[in-house]
Formats: sequence, structure tokens, C-alpha cells
Amino acid sequence: MSAIRTQVGIVGSGPAGLLLSQLLHNAGVESVVLERHSRAYVEGRIRAGVLEQGTVDLLTAAGVGERLQREGLVHGGVEIAVDGRRHRIDMKALTGGSCVTVYGQTQIQKDLFAKRLAENASIVFEAAPVSLHDVESDRPSLRYVHDGAEHRVDCDFIAGCDGFHGVSRASIPADRLETFERVYPFAWLGILADTRPVSDELIYTCSARGFALFSMRAIRVSRLYLQCAPNEDLSEWSDDRIWTELQRRLGPEASEGMETGPSTDKSIASLRSFVAEPMRWGNLFLAGDAAHIVPPTAAKGLNLAVADVRVLAEAFNAFYRTGRRDRLDAYSDTCLRRIWKAQRFAWWMTSLLHRFPDRSAFDSRVQRAELDYVLVSAAGQQTLAENYTGLPFGR
Ligand code: APR
Ligand code: PHB
Repeated sequence: MSAIRTQVGIVGSGPAGLLLSQLLHNAGVESVVLERHSRAYVEGRIRAGVLEQGTVDLLTAAGVGERLQREGLVHGGVEIAVDGRRHRIDMKALTGGSCVTVYGQTQIQKDLFAKRLAENASIVFEAAPVSLHDVESDRPSLRYVHDGAEHRVDCDFIAGCDGFHGVSRASIPADRLETFERVYPFAWLGILADTRPVSDELIYTCSARGFALFSMRAIRVSRLYLQCAPNEDLSEWSDDRIWTELQRRLGPEASEGMETGPSTDKSIASLRSFVAEPMRWGNLFLAGDAAHIVPPTAAKGLNLAVADVRVLAEAFNAFYRTGRRDRLDAYSDTCLRRIWKAQRFAWWMTSLLHRFPDRSAFDSRVQRAELDYVLVSAAGQQTLAENYTGLPFGR
């Protein structure tokens, strides 16, 4: 078995793993990234695309924000449509200047790969399977098979950035981890289409037929979602049926003149809230989807992954500069404070805007009253705006 030595062994080359390796590199800390899939596979995945200002700032400071600054669409507001009536939340005014930036995660992934590989980063693709060893010792290691040969990476720390189905969290003994979970009784059917978005800003739509979201990737690329049953059969959803349903949910007035066209991608995703605590076992640190999942309604998934990695990179950096472990010891608690606030907000937006098949008539009326309140009250709007654009760090 061949062996190499590095400071931080990173499992997974999604946004969390790659950004961590970039931040460590910028601070002079070495890492090796092990990825189970090919680069093309990882770059091809289509995910959400709304970035908080803090995420944009961190990516820019890390040196991967050039295209994001050029092509990202800055949004100062978001719309909520209820039974065909549109309401605009002026996030920028309500928060004293905060906006979000619409830029696909697929693009972030490409920007990160381009930068990391240009700097000769050590990334092993198609490393499978990966296993974690001696995690509770000060000499943990990763083992993997590549092209039929076994390899070992000896390191000081392991960063588990391998997503919800990865090996890192699964390696932690069950009695060392507490998990919290909620599965929602619906899913999202999503399409991409080369059509002009119905509005310059995102429209979250609540109707008796269910939730819909009108989002975008670029000036002429729409990203659209429909609430559907968790076991929905994708083959029963022709593009025509999807566009008709989107128009019905948005209402005749708002959807007038909506440009339709063939979808370029179509998929179904279930909705889940999940947190694993603590985000550390020995010298293994979990970050991103490996530790938590949010329903996509508040667009927090990528932003949370970036927030974790920021704290983790600073903690590793502090350790290598001073030998102190206090930031590493505080990592899990520091991240979980932000994670639970984002979990609460994602759960709240999901509960507020979807049709719940099992909700009583009373609960449905209360849901509608809460939505009315949020849309007419300055305090209600401000709560939504400050959470949506991203809470400040360190609170
Ligand atoms: N060994 C090596 N790599 C693995 C393994 C494994 N056993 N299991 C998974 N991976 C890889 C996956 O192939 C993927 O490239 O880990 C990576 C995890 O990436 P993501 O799932 O994108 O997770 P993360 O980097 O935490 O990004 C979070 O992604 O799902 C969205 O909403 C989420 O936007 C958020 C972001
Ligand atoms: C997206 O554009 O994919 C998107 C936007 C906002 C969300 C979820 C997904 O809340």
C-alpha cells in the first residue's frame, strides 16, 4: 500500500470540501481531497443557487469569486405570491442593505475546481471506497482504492465533507452521535429551461394546488419547482403538464406572458431537515451536508456548508499557527448555533408556504393567517428578510 502524509485529509470534493482545501491552501495548510466520483460527475450536479452576502464575500476573499462577481445576479427583493396576488419583500430596505446573489452551485463547483487544479491541489477522483482509521488518535488516516490499488493518507485531522450519504458520519459510533430529523410529506419536482424568468426576482408561490417556486440561473435560464407527492412518478410529468401546473399555481394574472419551453433537466427531490450532533468525533470534523440537511425552501444548504467551512478553516489555521486547540474544540458548538437558526427558518418557510396533506382545517387557517401577517407587518417582513439574506456571523 502506498502512503502519503498531509495535514488535513478531506473526504468529498463538493463545495464544502473544495472550499475548505482552498481556504487551507491560502493559509499555508496542506490538504488532500478524496472524491468518490469523477470531476465531470461532481460538476454536473444541479443544485440550488441563492447565495447570502456572507457567502459571496467569503468566496471572493478566497479568490474564487471573479466569475461570481461578473455573472451573479444581485437581488434586493423577493416575491411571495398567494392565490395569484404578488407581494414584494424589499429585503435590501428592510435589512439596511443586504441582498442575495443568484449564481448556480454548479458554477461555484466549476470555479472551485478550476482554481484548485490550477494551483496543483491534490484531489483524487474516483477514490472508492474510502475508509477512516484511528480517528480518535493523533495519527488518523484515510485509506482508499484507486485504479485497483490501495493507498493511505496519514494526516493530523480528517474533514468529513462527503455529503449526507458519505462515509464520514457513518464511521462515527452510534452512541457518540445524536441525530434530529424531520421528513416532510411532499417533494419538489424541479426543471431547468432556457426561457426568460417570469420576473427579475424569485417568486415563492403559495396556492390551494400547492407550492411553486420561480427561480433562475441567468437572464435567460429559468429554474422552476413544483410541490409534488414524495413518490411522484417523473415520467408522468411532461413539460406541458409542468408549465400548465406552474401557471395555475402562480395564477392567470401573474403568469400572463410567461415564456415556456422544453426542459433541459428534470428531477424530484425529497424534503428533509436533519442535524447530527456533535459535528466532531476525535480528530474527525464534519462539515456541510455530512452534518446537516435543510429543506430547500429557504436556500440555506450551500450557505450553511460555506459557514461551517469558514469556521473549520479558521480553527485549523489557528492550530497550525499557535498550537492551540480551543477553536477546534469550539467548532461544533459554534457551527450548530448558526445551523439551528437556519434549520428553524427553513422549517418555518416550508411550513408557511406548502400545502400539507394532513393539516386540519383549523391549522390551515392559522397557516394562512400567519402568511397574511408576514406580508402586511413590517416586523414580519423584516424577520423574513434578515433570515433570508443571512444572519450575521458570530451571533
Ligand atoms: N468517499 C469520497 N467522497 C464521497 C463519499 C465517499 N464515501 N461519499 C460522498 N462523497 C462525495 C460526493 O460524491 C460529493 O462530491 O462528497 C461530495 C459531497 O458533496 P455535496 O453533497 O455537494 O455536499 P457539500 O459539499 O456539503 O455541499 C453542500 O450541497 O447538497 C447541497 O444543499 C447542499 O448546497 C449544499 C451543498
Ligand atoms: C434555486 O434556484 O434552485 C433555488 C432558489 C431558491 C430556493 C431553492 C432553490 O429556495
